[in-house]
Amino acid sequence: MTYRVIPVEPFDYIVIGGTGDLARRKLLPALYHRFADGQIPDNCRVIGASRRAMSNEEFQAMTRQALKEFIDGGARDDATMERFVKTVSYVALDAASGEGWSDLAAALASGANKIRAFYLAVAPDLFGDICARISEFALVTPQTRVVIEKPVGRDLESAKKVNDAIGRAFTEDQIFRIDHYLGKETVQNLMVLRFGNMLYEPLWNSAHIDHVQITVAESIGVGSRGDYYDATGALRDMVQNHLLQLLCLVAMEPPESIDANSVRDEKLKILKALKPIDRDNALAVSVRGQYRAGAANDGAVPAYVEELQSDRSNTETFVALKAEVANWRWAGVPFYLRTGKRLAERVSEIVVAFKPIPHSIFPTGTGTIHPNKLVMRLQPDEGVKQWIMIKDPGPGGMQLRHVPLDMSFADAFDIRHPEAYERLLLDVIRGNQTLFMRRDEVEAAWAWIDPILQAWDAARIAPSAYTAGTWGPSAAIALIERDGRTWHEETL
Ligand code: BG6
Repeated sequence: MTYRVIPVEPFDYIVIGGTGDLARRKLLPALYHRFADGQIPDNCRVIGASRRAMSNEEFQAMTRQALKEFIDGGARDDATMERFVKTVSYVALDAASGEGWSDLAAALASGANKIRAFYLAVAPDLFGDICARISEFALVTPQTRVVIEKPVGRDLESAKKVNDAIGRAFTEDQIFRIDHYLGKETVQNLMVLRFGNMLYEPLWNSAHIDHVQITVAESIGVGSRGDYYDATGALRDMVQNHLLQLLCLVAMEPPESIDANSVRDEKLKILKALKPIDRDNALAVSVRGQYRAGAANDGAVPAYVEELQSDRSNTETFVALKAEVANWRWAGVPFYLRTGKRLAERVSEIVVAFKPIPHSIFPTGTGTIHPNKLVMRLQPDEGVKQWIMIKDPGPGGMQLRHVPLDMSFADAFDIRHPEAYERLLLDVIRGNQTLFMRRDEVEAAWAWIDPILQAWDAARIAPSAYTAGTWGPSAAIALIERDGRTWHEETL
């Protein structure tokens, strides 16, 4: 089976921070894949920019190296790679001093009628200066867009400043705030599952759903990102954006269409309906954790503070929360969220747990009747499982069994599963903002997160230690088990 490839209009992508980790790991490989699939015309340009002095040839060599490092040999073709590398060039720029910007303006002049996208793959404190230079050099054409990476700020106030700075150069419909989770296949599938089927929507409410679980577990530690991470922590790094976006897609009302503002209007309503977690309840409904030394990926791994080369840190590498959406559809239905580094395995999934049946007609001894569950697996092994009760096949009387209707995307569709960035980078060119966050969404998310951070500070809630390679602090298990529920585990 193949997927449809519709070529996009010619563009110039200017990747500011072009020599950085994100560009090398994600952006250049994603553009390569779209190019190899024939979606990117040969007259498109990818212009890397950063402070480092570098020639076009050196940047092309760096691109080649990045593609070799981050794309499996089987998914890479040398001749295509050379054609792609020809589309890549470089400009050295400094936003603070203004150096190099006239070179960029000159390079862009020849593509004045093309779609132009600036990707700011740099620390957010540089966004303001960069946007000011983009305006000063009159680089914003009607066909221009800007892409910014999370985190947009570190609290509501700083997020507003970042948004204001970008807003001075670009209009809201030119601004693409990336949350790469929205580009993941299963996340988009969630919308299709909910709104392309009649089956779920009538049951999608507090009358039939007992609770929802959203887990984004990583087995890796913070590695070389210690400085960024220690100033950020899991609540800001993952919950404010990725987990809340997933929650919104599960909880939102049906939008009137898939167009960007219809979807974002509905997500915004959910963010605004989240019940506050603050000084009154933070102790009861939130858990912070930090990993100590343990074992992961078949080997011993150091503690978080050792990775930081420090003695102590108050930063959480794990969070679990019990959230609630206070509206008619969801009142009383807990949304348990958890995310962390150095957990037992890498798994991201959304579990919608239905209520138990009201009455069993089966005699005791025929087996336990488990409530239905819908499990959407974002990674790895993308797919959807609907857990149902069936009769155990064969003679010997009635025995009940809990089994999944199992839809593995890898087994069902014989295609390469594109990375989130592939979709999102080209959505920018197509001008489709459905999978990007609007300013008011980002600010509403911070408005919910800020009181949690303040409550942790005020009560001096230090992170509880958990051993690397486990499922986080025991308090996270207690958080859900106190309510008579349990984190989903795959058992037959
Ligand atoms: C990023 C976070 O947004 O998402 C990282 O900053 C995290 O800390 C990453 O590792 C996880 O993304 P994925 O796609 O690997 O699940």
